[in-house]
Amino acid sequence: MKTLKIKVPATSANLGAGFDTLGLALNLYNEFIIEESDNIEIQTIPQFPEFENPEKNLFIKVLKTTCEYLGNKFHGAKVKQIINIPVSRGLGSSATAIVAGILAGFYANKKQPTDEEFFEIAYKFEPHPDNLLPAWKGGLITACIENGKTYYSKIPFPKELKAVVVIPDFELSTEKARSVLPENIPLKDAIYNVQRVSLFISALINKEYNLLKIAMNDKLHQPYRKQLIPNFDKVIEYALNAGALGVSLSGAGSCIIALAKENFNKIGSAMVKAFNEKSINAEYKLLEIEEKGSEILVD
Ligand code: HSE
Repeated sequence: MKTLKIKVPATSANLGAGFDTLGLALNLYNEFIIEESDNIEIQTIPQFPEFENPEKNLFIKVLKTTCEYLGNKFHGAKVKQIINIPVSRGLGSSATAIVAGILAGFYANKKQPTDEEFFEIAYKFEPHPDNLLPAWKGGLITACIENGKTYYSKIPFPKELKAVVVIPDFELSTEKARSVLPENIPLKDAIYNVQRVSLFISALINKEYNLLKIAMNDKLHQPYRKQLIPNFDKVIEYALNAGALGVSLSGAGSCIIALAKENFNKIGSAMVKAFNEKSINAEYKLLEIEEKGSEILVD
């Protein structure tokens, strides 16, 4: 019997002004090791009892939906999930389960998903492409949806930039982080973000890193979400003072991502210190961009 291993990278969405638009794949991975079975058996490492419940396991739900989408009955699967990406922290852990479920379902049917097929299934579980796309394809991706169709493009990301990600010791669900956002925003705030996200992309392409500090500012989501992240402004300030080029909330939070060319440990320690000041434990990881995206390995 064949064992399938699907490796899916972490992702950091938004990157400041690119709310629901930009996403960056990072070299930290969740792995899904799957064997055929007539029952559902789930093991998680480290152990997450909730994820071992087949009714609640996102990977199993997506795999089942994918099999049914392809016209097959889902009989079961034996799955080992190696969870390296912190859960509910804005690093795309749910997206890894969605991408892996779709890829596993298509693989079982000896097919590969087209973009249309991928999004038709994926959006049933998560309606934003900014984590899904880099988790699937790798790299830095900009995406939009028009009349139900997803359009996207990969942006060259300079190898010399790395991500220092601070992971505070508290979860924040995307649902909660979206519930604090207003229905409408002023035109000047929309203009503010359009200007900055354009600047961000251009600054990366031209290696004008001095622009990233301004280009990663945002008025669409961070000003509302920061009430959920103690000492948010200080985390940003300390990271910039320690040499970060630009800093933003990672996805819906609670992680914060700093892009930098040097001083990585100084930046990470400074961000941890800012959380510690509010009695919140935190750690940081130095990550690099993952260009390949998801990988399917067969034993
Ligand atoms: N762009 C999304 C958000 C990412 O910030 O809410 C999480 O799905």
